[in-house]
Amino acid sequence: MSLDIASSLTLPCGVTAKNRIAKAPMTEGLADPLNRATERHVRLYRKWAEGGAGILITGNVQVDRRYLERPGNVVIDQNGGLEELRAFAAAGTANGTLLFMQINHAGRQTPVRVNPTPVAPSDVALALPGNAFGAPRALLSDEIEDIIRRFIRVAEVAKETGFSGVQVHAAHGYLISEFLSPLANRRDDEWGGSLENRARLLRRVVQGIRTRVGADYPISVKLNSSDFQKGGFDLEDCLQVARWLEEDSVDLLEISGGNYENPAMMIGVRGAEEIRETTVTREAYFLDYAKSIRAATKIPLMVTGGFRSRAAMDAALEGGDVDVIGIGRPMCVDPDVPNALLASREAGAVSYEATIKPSKAGLGWFCLNLIRLADDQEPDREMAGADAITAYLANEDATAAALEDFKI
Ligand SMILES: Cc1cc2nc3c(=O)[nH]c(=O)nc-3n(C[C@H](O)[C@H](O)[C@H](O)COP(=O)(O)O)c2cc1C
Repeated sequence: MSLDIASSLTLPCGVTAKNRIAKAPMTEGLADPLNRATERHVRLYRKWAEGGAGILITGNVQVDRRYLERPGNVVIDQNGGLEELRAFAAAGTANGTLLFMQINHAGRQTPVRVNPTPVAPSDVALALPGNAFGAPRALLSDEIEDIIRRFIRVAEVAKETGFSGVQVHAAHGYLISEFLSPLANRRDDEWGGSLENRARLLRRVVQGIRTRVGADYPISVKLNSSDFQKGGFDLEDCLQVARWLEEDSVDLLEISGGNYENPAMMIGVRGAEEIRETTVTREAYFLDYAKSIRAATKIPLMVTGGFRSRAAMDAALEGGDVDVIGIGRPMCVDPDVPNALLASREAGAVSYEATIKPSKAGLGWFCLNLIRLADDQEPDREMAGADAITAYLANEDATAAALEDFKI
């Protein structure tokens, strides 16, 4: 029988997803001033669960409130909020849906409005114009051990409060991805230098989580196929890390790429001539990388980035290079995209692309529409890109200003 998006998938740990569509992780910015989950998460995830995806992956939940990706992130440190997490998990697991909590530390990509001095493997600042991100200081060894404990603790809380699984965020230039990168990680101790050392943080986190959550609980990792930067984490590195993650019994590897310096996850891979251009690879820009990763590991693979049409999704599954299709931006304006895709082989999730080109500048547009969904408002498909940026930045400043000075 041929595979398509409607086929179920049983992960190595034994848990089954009802179909092959996953809502990709997307930061919500909906937490309260103590960075706890709220009723707005509940409303949003209930809609997404009813929308038909087999798996929902949350936006990145932080292990330390000093180093957020965004002021409105959910944080699990010692800020309470367990009842709120239970309500969040109950909403996101309705309709037979699996809900994975994505766990993150933003590292040097912590915005300056959250912290002017973020931490990173080394004191290498982001090569970006403007002053949105402060120069980081290098982490001490005992601070790295503390971060590992925090990731493990957050995973335990996810399990205790009813989330169906966890995903460790090792992509997109946040802390674990910085450790993997020879450009950001210039350490000469056991955490830097060789790939084995650069991958030590990721592996210690994953191994530690597995020890605490048991063999039958899903652990996913989101990993860059490449950072697409000269001298950075590249496909060869990715293949080796994927082999190690198989040894560490990871259940689902989500493939993406890029970071804030080169946002390939949003705009596709620059230098597209490297890619064999078929209709499917033109739509799903990391699919060719997934082919190589598939040859290196048996971990079930999820590919995210650009997938819009049912035809491309089914072709990718049928081709055998991918097991789960990740969908991000369309879900910000239409939570029912998975149901529509499942209902028709002709379906395509293209509703927003007529108004705005997928680009980094468009990120605020998607964030604001996601918030409208959480607030039971209709999407604003006509929002102009420039207005969205201004409104998004004002929202971030207001959220940052409201944060309680909660010391951990
Ligand atoms: C509003 C928004 C928020 C995002 N937040 C996250 C996040 O928290 N964690 C993550 O791994 N990726 C995040 N991403 C990236 C998506 O998971 C995905 O990789 C990207 O949108 C490409 O997929 P798409 O073409 O289907 O949108 C975000 C993307 C958008 C648009």
